[in-house]
Amino acid sequence: MRCFSVGLAFAAALSQLLLSAAPSNAADIDRGREIYAANCAVCHGASGKPDAGSAVVEGLGVMPADFSDPLFNSREPAADWEMVIKYGGHAMGLAEQMPAQGDVLSDENVLEVTGYIKSLADTRDYPPGEMNLMLPIRTKKAFPEDEVVYVGRLTDQDGDNAYKQVLEIEKRIGQRGQAILELVHESEGSVSELAEIEVGYKHALSFSQKHILSGAAVIAIPVEAEGDGELQTYLAYGARLSPSWIVQSSLRLKFPFERFSDGELELAGIAHYVHSPWPRRVFPAFEVVATTPFKSANGDLEWTALPQIRIGLTRGGHVALNLGMEFPLSDQSWDQRYYVTLLWDFADGSFFQGW
Ligand code: HEC
Repeated sequence: MRCFSVGLAFAAALSQLLLSAAPSNAADIDRGREIYAANCAVCHGASGKPDAGSAVVEGLGVMPADFSDPLFNSREPAADWEMVIKYGGHAMGLAEQMPAQGDVLSDENVLEVTGYIKSLADTRDYPPGEMNLMLPIRTKKAFPEDEVVYVGRLTDQDGDNAYKQVLEIEKRIGQRGQAILELVHESEGSVSELAEIEVGYKHALSFSQKHILSGAAVIAIPVEAEGDGELQTYLAYGARLSPSWIVQSSLRLKFPFERFSDGELELAGIAHYVHSPWPRRVFPAFEVVATTPFKSANGDLEWTALPQIRIGLTRGGHVALNLGMEFPLSDQSWDQRYYVTLLWDFADGSFFQGW
C-alpha cells in the first residue's frame, strides 16, 4: 500500500532523533558568570531571580522575568535572548528598561552570558524553546505552548465556495503537556454552522536542542454538524537541520466513532527558510500534504501543495500572520484553497505589546 512508503518517509525523519545538542563549554559559562555579575545582576538578581525589594528593581517600573524558573527559562530560545541582550528590550518588543549591551559586550560575550543565564535553571525535563518552530498551516506542531490561533480557509470549487474558520486555544500544562480546545465553524451556500468542538491533549515524547517529537489525541464532537464525531490521533515531529532550515512533519489518523475502519490517514510535511534572526520579517515555507482513506485502493491518495509565508507582526514575533494557497496535485473536488492564520503566543506578552 502507498501509505507504507509514506510511513517509511516519516520513519526516516524520525531517525533525526539521534541528533543532540552540543554541551556548553564550562570555561564559557565561567566567563558568562563574571559578565552577569558585573552587568546584569543589579537588575536580574544574583541568582537570576530579581529582588523585588531592591531600589534598582523598584525604580525600573517593570519586573524582569525570573531566569531561575525552569518553565520560563526553557521556553525562550537562546537566540532570542542573544538579540534582546545585544539590541535591548525595545528591539524585541519588550520593555526599554532592558538596556542594549551591544556596545559594551562583544558577540562572544553575549553568547557566554546567554549560556550562563540558560544554566540558572534545571530545564532537562522541559522541551527547549528552540523547538517552538514556526506554525505551519496544516502540519501539526510538536511544541507544547500557550497560543491562540485563528484559521480562515476559503475553498474555491464548483458551485458555492466553502468557508471554514477555526479558533484554537492551546494551553501549556506542566513540563511537557498541552491542552487543546478548538471551535470549528463552517459555511457553504445557505448552511452556516458551528460544526464541531475539538478537545484534546498533546505530550512531548522526546526532545533535544535539535528535534522534538510529540503525540496527541483529540476528540471532535459535532455541535450542529451531522455524525457522531471522531477520534484523531497524531505524531508531530520538528527538527532544525541548520540555522536557517527547519522541517516539521505530522502523521495523523482519524477514526470516526461510527466505524473506525472508515477513517483516514494524513501525512504532512513542511520546510521553513529562516533567513533572519529578526522575527518581524517574511519567512517563506513549502508544505505538502497527503491523505488516504484506510480502505484505500491506490487511486484514493490525495496530494496537495501549500506554498505559504509567515509574516512576523510584532517586534518579537509573538503575533504573526500566515498566508497560504493550497493546490491539488491529484484529482480533487476543489480547485484551490486560500488560508489566513493569525497567531498569538500569549506566553510572550499581551496581544497589543511590541507592535
Ligand atoms: C537596568 C536594568 C537591567 C539591566 C542592567 C539588564 N537588564 Fe535584562 N531586562 C531588564 C528588564 C526590566 C527586562 C524585562 C523586559 C520586559 O519583560 O519587557 C529585561 C529582560 C531581559 C531578557 C529577556 C527575558 C524575556 O522576557 O525573554 C534577557 C534575556 C535579559 N534581560 C538579559 C540581560 C543580561 C544578560 C543583562 C546583562 C548583560 C541584562 N539583561 C541587563 C532589565 C535589565
